[in-house]
Amino acid sequence: MQTLGNHRFLVLGSGGREHALCWRLSQPDHSEGQRRQHAVYAAPGNPGIAKIVTCAPIPLNDFQAIAQFCLDQGIDVVVVGPEQPLVDGIADYFALRADLAGVKVLGPNKDCAQLEGSKAFSKAFMARHNIPTAAYQEFTQADLAACLAYIQTQPLPIVIKADGLAAGKGVIIAQSYQEATEAVTEMLSGEAFGAAGERIVIEQFLDGKELSYFVLADGTGHYLTLPQAKDYKRIGVGDTGLNTGGMGTISPVPFADEAMLAAVDATIVRPTLAGLEQEGLHYVGFLFIGLMVVDGKPYVIEYNCRLGDPETQSLMMRLGPDLADAFVAAANGELSTWEGRSLCTTNQPVCTVVLASGGYPGTFEKGLPISGHETHLGNPDIEVFHAGTALEADGKLVTSGGRVMAVSATATTWPETIALAQSATAAITWEGRYYRSDIGVV
Ligand code: AMP
Ligand code: GLY
Repeated sequence: MQTLGNHRFLVLGSGGREHALCWRLSQPDHSEGQRRQHAVYAAPGNPGIAKIVTCAPIPLNDFQAIAQFCLDQGIDVVVVGPEQPLVDGIADYFALRADLAGVKVLGPNKDCAQLEGSKAFSKAFMARHNIPTAAYQEFTQADLAACLAYIQTQPLPIVIKADGLAAGKGVIIAQSYQEATEAVTEMLSGEAFGAAGERIVIEQFLDGKELSYFVLADGTGHYLTLPQAKDYKRIGVGDTGLNTGGMGTISPVPFADEAMLAAVDATIVRPTLAGLEQEGLHYVGFLFIGLMVVDGKPYVIEYNCRLGDPETQSLMMRLGPDLADAFVAAANGELSTWEGRSLCTTNQPVCTVVLASGGYPGTFEKGLPISGHETHLGNPDIEVFHAGTALEADGKLVTSGGRVMAVSATATTWPETIALAQSATAAITWEGRYYRSDIGVV
């Protein structure tokens, strides 16, 4: 038996996605007679993460302090959770400093991260490489009149997207020309999203089933496919109401059959990675492809340069200890050694339900005391991942964000899994807490 080494990871971020990553990476690996335990740190982390790994209170934009922490702790791989540090160039910063040669960043550099950081860039990239996506036109501030005239020629509903990062709020699906006109005018004036909205993309509305698809790429054209998930994005039961960061996920996705997944690989993943390489963009890290499946055919809705939240919570429940080795191989450009292998993945269903503050995604109160979050400790079928939580001076856990926690549950069948996720979620409470009662049902 080959004895595999222990790795040293720093996970950047403070949400449920990062809690799930820390949970997975920090579990002892006793597979195939191994006795491995990786060292896992998080920055800045959250109270849930702090229960399982050491957290360092470093802000995500302080690359110098992050680098110093890596040198002090002998970190091998920095796993970047959210998009902002990637779009801001954390991978470029590490690559430029000779003293950081031993620390690899699992995340794309600034140029590659434009796939998420600029909708105009990603749409033009897809057009150049014949990757199926919604038809579109790009407009800037100077084109307001042309843009308003263009809208009138398009069928409804019409999709309007701010070019830059807008914290998941930069997409408007306008049901009337008046709504579209108002959205475009606000965005192009910079009123709605500042500079992020001064360039916009108007695209065709695709009516289909949404699927979150993830690959792990190593910057040499090699990649591994991670499990897929379905995200329930709307706030209301029955997929109604405002868009959110995600109110729950399931994995595997019942409608993602083998033929469709093969089509995603052939028509989207391969052309994307080949196109990047062709343009001199060596993409390292997670590529999250938001897909819309229309009549069995997949189209790209968006690229993200990170994992999804709350998709990651469901994914981590299905993946095994070899994920840590895949992270190290990808960060080092060595996924060619995984040729013909795939990640150990259980096919048992997983359902993740997000607990949100009352009022989210609008305004909500913070600082409300949480109870019941330790009810499930020790139950191997249920994990509670923290997102917007904080500890008060007296050690009391309180809410501190819109999406506060996520509960992931697994059982043998879908009905049992969905029921377990619901009952486990119901046990956690605070004033006004909200969750969807239909995650996995529709
Ligand atoms: P995005 O921020 O690009 O993920 O968009 C947010 C949500 O808007 C997506 O998850 C979809 O539900 C929806 N959306 C975006 N683009 C389109 C489109 N072209 N057609 C239909 N729905 C879309
Ligand atoms: N859950 C969707 C996202 O992370 O963007």
